[in-house]
Amino acid sequence: MLETASHNLETIGLAGALQPQSCTLVILGGGGDLAKRKLVPAMYNLALDAVLPENVAILSFGRRELDDEAFRTFAREGIEQFSRQRFDAQRWRDYERSLYFLNGSFEDAEAFARLKKRLESIEAEHGIPGNRIFYLSIPPSFTELCINQLRDAGLIRSPDSEQFSRVIVEKPIGRDLESARQVNATLARVLDESQIFRIDHYLGKETVQNSLVTRFANSIFEPLWNKKYIDHVQITAAEAEGVGTRADYYEQAGALRDMVQNHILQLLSLTAMEPPWAMTADVVRNHKLEVLNCLRPVEAKAVDHYIVRAQYAAGKHNGDDVPGYRREQGVGPDSTIETYVAIKAFVDNWRWAGVPFYIRTGKRLGKRSTEISIHFQEVPPILFNCDPSNPVEPNVLTIRIQPNEGLEMSISTKLPGPKVQIQPVKMDFSYGSTFDKQSPEAYERLLLDVMAGDATLFMRRDEVEASWTWITNILEAWEASGTRWLPEYGAGSWGPVEADKLIEADGRKWRVL
Ligand code: BG6
Repeated sequence: MLETASHNLETIGLAGALQPQSCTLVILGGGGDLAKRKLVPAMYNLALDAVLPENVAILSFGRRELDDEAFRTFAREGIEQFSRQRFDAQRWRDYERSLYFLNGSFEDAEAFARLKKRLESIEAEHGIPGNRIFYLSIPPSFTELCINQLRDAGLIRSPDSEQFSRVIVEKPIGRDLESARQVNATLARVLDESQIFRIDHYLGKETVQNSLVTRFANSIFEPLWNKKYIDHVQITAAEAEGVGTRADYYEQAGALRDMVQNHILQLLSLTAMEPPWAMTADVVRNHKLEVLNCLRPVEAKAVDHYIVRAQYAAGKHNGDDVPGYRREQGVGPDSTIETYVAIKAFVDNWRWAGVPFYIRTGKRLGKRSTEISIHFQEVPPILFNCDPSNPVEPNVLTIRIQPNEGLEMSISTKLPGPKVQIQPVKMDFSYGSTFDKQSPEAYERLLLDVMAGDATLFMRRDEVEASWTWITNILEAWEASGTRWLPEYGAGSWGPVEADKLIEADGRKWRVL
C-alpha cells in the first residue's frame, strides 16, 4: 500500500478546510436577471440545506425602484421559478427576513454612503461581524466606477483586516487581452488578489469538479493520461437555445468570447493539467495556468485551418420553426458574429505533444450537451484489429458535464456466439440513478466558497490574461481577414460541414451526442 499524503480530498476548493463565515452578500445590480434566476435561488437552497453560516443577509443594491417588500416578492418569484428545491412557505418566512433592497445609482457617491449605513444596520440586526461580499452583477462598463465608489465609501477593508471584504466579478472580464488587463488593473488598484473572486460558473458544476476526482482519485486513469495512450480529446458545449434576448451582449461577444475564452478553456486546462501536489487555490491554479501558457498560438495565416466559425440559419427547435441568427431581434442583418466555433488546439508540452484537443461550441445545435471525451489510441492490428474494413473502436472515456451528468467508458466486448465479433459496450455511471441526492447548482457551491474564502474554483488574474492571450490572437486574425460572410448551419443541426471537415481531415470524427 502507498504511504498516504496528508492532503485530504475534502479540501478540493471546498469548505472542508475553510469554513464559510457569517456575512452579508451585497449584490450590485441585485434587481436584475442574474439575481433573480441564480443568486437568490442559490442562497435559498443553501439555507434549505442548512449549510449557510449562522448569520447571513442579502442586500441588493441597484437602480430598480424596489424596497425591501418589493424585493422579497421579486426574490420569491425567482425562487418559485428557478430554485433547485421546491418553494417551502414555512422556511421562506424565516428566509425573507434576511433580504433587503436599497435603491441607488452607481454614479451617486451619496448612494454608496447610504449603502454603508444600511449595511451596518443589517449587520447589527443579524449579528453579522462586518464580513462583506460584494457581487458585481453589473455591465462591465460599470466595474471601475463601482469599485472606486466602494473604496471611496470606505466599504473595502484591507486584506489583513479581521473582517473580510471580498468582491465577486462576473464575466466578461474584458473583451480582449488589453481590456482584460485594464479590468484587472482597476481591481488591483483597490483590492488585493486574495479579495477578488472571478467567477466562471462552469467551475462550480459538480461534474467539472468530478473530473478532477476521476483523474486523481482513480489509479487507473492517470498513468494513461498522456500522448502515449490518448489519441485526442474532444470538448463539446452544445446549446439548443438561440441567442434569446441577449443579442445586445452577444453581438459584442460571439461564441469564442462567450464560451471558449472562459468555460471551455477552463475545462481544457482541468483536463490537461499536471497532477497538482495539493488541492489548494494557488497550486491548482498554477497548474491550470501552465496549460494555458502551453496552448499553441494560432498563427494568423493558419487560422482557417485550425478554426471554423459559423452562424445558425433558420431551422427547427423542439419541432418549431426558428429564425436564423441574423433575423433574431437585435441582431444586424449583416452580422458576422459567430454562434458556433470548432477549434483544433494543441497543448505543447511533453504530456500532450501532438495530441489534438478538438473543441466545439454553439447555439441552436441539436440538443444541449456538454462533455469532455478522451479518445484512447487504437489497439494494434494484432489479434483482434486486423480487418481494416471493420476496425475495433478505440476506448472512449466521456465525462458528461450536463445534462444526464455522469461518466461513461466504452469497452470492446465479444458478442455472444461462436464467432469472434467485437462490439463496443458502455460502462455508464449516472449521477441521477446512482445518488438519490440532487447536485447543488454551480452558484450554490461558488457562493459558499467565497464565504469560506476558498478561491480554488475561481479564475486568477494571470489565468484570465493567459486565456485572453490565446483568444486575442484568433480574434485579431479574424478581424484582419475582413470576413463579410460566415458559413451557416441549420438550427437544430450539429454544426456546419466545415467543422466536420476540420476533424475528418485528420481521420477522426466528432462524437455523436
Ligand atoms: C454563459 C454564456 O456564460 O454560459 C451563455 O454567456 C451560455 O451564452 C451559458 O448560454 C451556458 O451555461 P450553462 O450552465 O447553461 O451551460
